[in-house]
Amino acid sequence: MTPAVEVRNLTHYYLKGTENQVAAINKINLCVEKGETLGIIGHTGSGKSTLIAHFNGLLKPDEGEVLVDGKNIFESKETLRQSRFKVGLCFQYPEYQLFEETVFRDIAFGPKNMKLPQDEIERRVLTAAGMAGVKKENLNKSPFDLSGGEKRRAAIAGVMSMEPQVLVLDEPAAGLDPAGRRELINMIKNYRTATGCTVIIVSHSMEDIASVADRVCVLNKAEIAMLGTPKEVYSRDEELREMGLNVPEITKIFLTLRKRGLDVPEVFTVDEALAAFRNLTKGGGNQ
Ligand SMILES: Nc1ncnc2c1ncn2[C@@H]1O[C@H](COP(=O)(O)OP(=O)(O)OP(=O)(O)O)[C@@H](O)[C@H]1O
Ligand SMILES: [Mg+2]
Repeated sequence: MTPAVEVRNLTHYYLKGTENQVAAINKINLCVEKGETLGIIGHTGSGKSTLIAHFNGLLKPDEGEVLVDGKNIFESKETLRQSRFKVGLCFQYPEYQLFEETVFRDIAFGPKNMKLPQDEIERRVLTAAGMAGVKKENLNKSPFDLSGGEKRRAAIAGVMSMEPQVLVLDEPAAGLDPAGRRELINMIKNYRTATGCTVIIVSHSMEDIASVADRVCVLNKAEIAMLGTPKEVYSRDEELREMGLNVPEITKIFLTLRKRGLDVPEVFTVDEALAAFRNLTKGGGNQ
């Protein structure tokens, strides 16, 4: 099957041609399969935002190429335009980009740009608002009258309303409290189940990534250091620590319990931990 997004030998320099030139990403190769959820993690400055900004042509490669649905996005004006519709990119702190008079108009901005008929625009706004958890009564409010979490959802709905084949989210849960983070991650899981869409999610939180991603890509110093299932990646905790990354707290606790002789599995999320404890109390382990 053609990958949703394919990156070949991709390099991007900032401050090109100056003595401060840096390769923010360096010779990256990556295939994102249709329908999968890929998590991207890495220390600050490792190149995560730079990498994903190439997926819809927002940044142009200095070397290498990006293919969306098998097509090189810089092949022509039309392929570039198509990639903007096929790949929906939601930036870090997207709520700062809300600017329309009402939430409805903000969510409608993308579909309007796609020159869709008015009834289709309305259908998309309502569907996206529903999926992103934007309350109906907020649609006619000014985006500036919403709470932080509500603004975030409105901004994400503004990308969902374009009904992209690939949804890319840069730190969607950043700055939210633990309950808000969990709700947001669940919302993304539900969106994926409902649409079957490919999802790429950048996060600092190893736990959030473990609970949502099929595969994890670890970026370190502009290069891919690891790529695999959360289990494969998180079992390399020594190497992760050297890259400034920490396995989830719950994983550490369970590793300690295992070292102390309790028969529990490796876990990466609180839900998995709960299931393991329930199993123990049912007599599934050797206490
Ligand atoms: N506009 C820019 N001009 C110059 N250098 C930049 C620019 N944007 C990013 N960089 C540099 O490129 C490298 C990668 O940055 P990038 O923002 O992609 O990292 P990141 O992994 O998204 O970091 P964070 O976790 O902090 O969001 C860093 O060294 C950064 O300082
Ligand atoms: Mg970033």
